[in-house]
Amino acid sequence: MTQSIQDAAWDLLSASVMNFNGKPLGTVAARDTIKQELNYDQVFVRDFAVSAYAYLLADQPDIVANFLLEMARLQRTKRQFDCFEPGEGLMPASFKVEGGDGKEHIVADFGERAIARVPPVDSGFWWLLILRAYVQTTGDHAMAERAEVQHAIRVLLDLFLSERFDMFPTMLVPDGSFMIDRRMGVYGYPIDVQALFFSSLKAAEQLLVDSYENNDYVNASRKRIDHLSYHIRTYYWLDLEQLNHIYRYDVEEYGEHTVNIFNIYPETIPGWLIDWIPENGGYFAGNIGPARMDYRYFAHGNLMAIISGLATDQQAQAFMELLRARWDDLIGEMPLKLVFPALKDRDWAILTGMDPKNRAWSYHNGGNWPSMVWLLAAACVRTGAYDILQRALDSLVPRLSRDNWPEYYDGHYGRLVGREARVLQTWSIAGFLVAAHLAEQPQSLEHLGFTKAPSDNAITACHT
Ligand code: GLC
Repeated sequence: MTQSIQDAAWDLLSASVMNFNGKPLGTVAARDTIKQELNYDQVFVRDFAVSAYAYLLADQPDIVANFLLEMARLQRTKRQFDCFEPGEGLMPASFKVEGGDGKEHIVADFGERAIARVPPVDSGFWWLLILRAYVQTTGDHAMAERAEVQHAIRVLLDLFLSERFDMFPTMLVPDGSFMIDRRMGVYGYPIDVQALFFSSLKAAEQLLVDSYENNDYVNASRKRIDHLSYHIRTYYWLDLEQLNHIYRYDVEEYGEHTVNIFNIYPETIPGWLIDWIPENGGYFAGNIGPARMDYRYFAHGNLMAIISGLATDQQAQAFMELLRARWDDLIGEMPLKLVFPALKDRDWAILTGMDPKNRAWSYHNGGNWPSMVWLLAAACVRTGAYDILQRALDSLVPRLSRDNWPEYYDGHYGRLVGREARVLQTWSIAGFLVAAHLAEQPQSLEHLGFTKAPSDNAITACHT
């Protein structure tokens, strides 16, 4: 890989830095000067996570430390009895700096200004993951031990582990509440959210100091991690064998000892899947809830499941096999496809609300997102699939810089720069830098906090 592209990418990443009172605080989402309306001039938490990893791997932790402390300040820590105010524990989706001449202040958006008013359930997850990576790379445990940081972790866990109407270990969320922040039929228990939930519970458990106050939080997190991993590994996993199992499901079972606990009707298995699923490959389904199985493939959740240890080793290897067998569909000419297959026709009309930005094979609905290449790289390191990493980087590197680092690509194989894609999209730049670093120094994956634990492989028999 040419060093010059990496150098150029670093210059672009530095140019995206947003300062607050003279200190670097984050990176803006994009610096497209032509399409810069809306909120791409803000620091998005999920986008900054990728920049944070790039800075941490490059031994430049200051911007990350500033970001972490500012986020703890922005988090809502009081119970709000006002339904128009962000709830207790929430962290913002994005923020910007306003004012000047020593009178700068931060304006945060918790979803109350976002298109369609979607809430960011993933901001707290990403904050925990960035914090863990910061501590691991710098060894600055004092940062996590600060009273306000420990408090922020507890308030987040209060929100994550609060009483709800349903009784599953997964987290129930509204549509469009994470990276896919438009209506896409991803309400309920989407895999992308569940994998981040698992990963951040593990981070929280590691980051909480040993104290009387933290005891219940640590125990509750551990318990939830066990239940959640059993649930996802068992009910979300799809391979030929499991598909056949679903195909022959009994339905309308009542009582405690049911097999088809969600009452999934075999008729819901889509025709494309039966021929598409390879002999040795598998993946976690997009979503499971009462009488609902979303068979779509979502890259983010699957890759996060692998690097966080939510997938067993066997499942992780089967997933990499799926990528090899269905390369054109899932990686394509620009790594990598966010969701497969795209929603079309009536499904598109009903599930997206006729959203033209999310028409078939575009944007979230089957577009290709280079920003996720860092996740792919991490999954390749974790599973030893270096052939996949090399092949993906070979198709990504020349094209991405030539196209000026677009946000996403369109088409079944990701051949066209997305119709509404910004250029100079920061997480496309940072994603490449992190992937390039992991390709050269695979052992640094551990520094990012995605270490393998011995318990990662056991499908603990527990009741859900
Ligand atoms: C879009 C994406 C979202 C991202 C934001 C800024 O809204 O859907 O995931 O955080 O742009 O890049």
